[in-house]
Amino acid sequence: MGIRFDSVTVAYDGNVVLDSLDLTVEPGEVMALLGPSGSGKTTALRAVAGFVRPASGRVYLGGEDVTDLPPYRRGIGMVVQSYALFPHLRVDENVAFGLKARRTPKGEIRQRVAEALELTGMAGYARRHPRELSGGQQQRVAIARALAIRPRVLLLDEPLSALDARLRSGMLTELARLHRELPDVSMLYVTHDQVEALTLADRIAVMDSARLRACGTPRELYRAPTDAFTASFVGGANLVPVTVTAGGVSLAGTELKLDTAGAAVGARATLCVRPHLVGLGEGPNRLPGTVREIQWRGATHRLYVEVDGHTVMADVRELKAPPALGDTVDLHFAPDDGVLLPAGVSHG
Ligand SMILES: Nc1ncnc2c1ncn2[C@@H]1O[C@H](COP(=O)(O)OP(=O)(O)O)[C@@H](O)[C@H]1O
Ligand SMILES: [Mg+2]
Repeated sequence: MGIRFDSVTVAYDGNVVLDSLDLTVEPGEVMALLGPSGSGKTTALRAVAGFVRPASGRVYLGGEDVTDLPPYRRGIGMVVQSYALFPHLRVDENVAFGLKARRTPKGEIRQRVAEALELTGMAGYARRHPRELSGGQQQRVAIARALAIRPRVLLLDEPLSALDARLRSGMLTELARLHRELPDVSMLYVTHDQVEALTLADRIAVMDSARLRACGTPRELYRAPTDAFTASFVGGANLVPVTVTAGGVSLAGTELKLDTAGAAVGARATLCVRPHLVGLGEGPNRLPGTVREIQWRGATHRLYVEVDGHTVMADVRELKAPPALGDTVDLHFAPDDGVLLPAGVSHG
């Protein structure tokens, strides 16, 4: 079942924290809400769940206007960062909680609890208490509890941010599997972690200061971002101020070939190139500069090269003989790998 925000605005004490959000999550789609802390992601989720009332605009679930419905009548499952399990209840009792509240018959509760624990890989832990589980296991129980009511949509608010890095990557795989097993359940997944968004989401909605900045598939936003904020938030990006020329752009008098998509000659703009698409040595679109920093990252070296007062990052395959700090080097990138963005401040 889909979710639709129709110009939803939320304000606290007259302070707008979600500004006219228009966004549609298709039935069965995983939509990531990605953005820095304070950008309004949780507020958007709470508006869907019914925990916060929009100052204006409407929220639809499967075409039904639910703006005036109380949370428990919306058929929503929600998982938050802190596992929020009841410490005095066993795992199965925690998972049964929402069903009991809905006065589901006993036999059906038993069956649905078993099903939800099976789905989340927690079938063997039904009689334990939360304190006898690891953080990752507790979060699985929280997910099982959200699923037990057979929600029409599942809302997840930074569900992995309390877990350590290794657990997080395992849980990401688990969530992707869960989505394959529940293809009809739409998911709205709030995160400030680009890896989670790129890995899990069918589409990503990028939030910046209460507003939706961009929305698209991970590939679209990564390959062809339309603004500097999105470019730097979805994957690392080199963002360099340039001037549009007839065949591309100019950077400190150097001509670079680029599709400028009809931008006016002489206009100021921002050149965006992903660090892994910048090569070391001679090539098309040559950028001469001075090495300021080198980081060895195992499979790659990251070079920070000063080009006309701007730092350009290049991720290159591990170098046998890396340049020294202060060396003059050439960087280059293929004309197809550069994206022209409007001029503006980067937030990277
Ligand atoms: N209950 C509240 N009362 C007042 N301000 C709030 C409340 N909840 C959130 N805010 C403010 O709204 C803004 C957006 O918050 P939130 O939606 O939680 O952002 P995010 O989830 O992206 O970090 C923040 O500036 C936050 O301080
Ligand atoms: Mg939040």
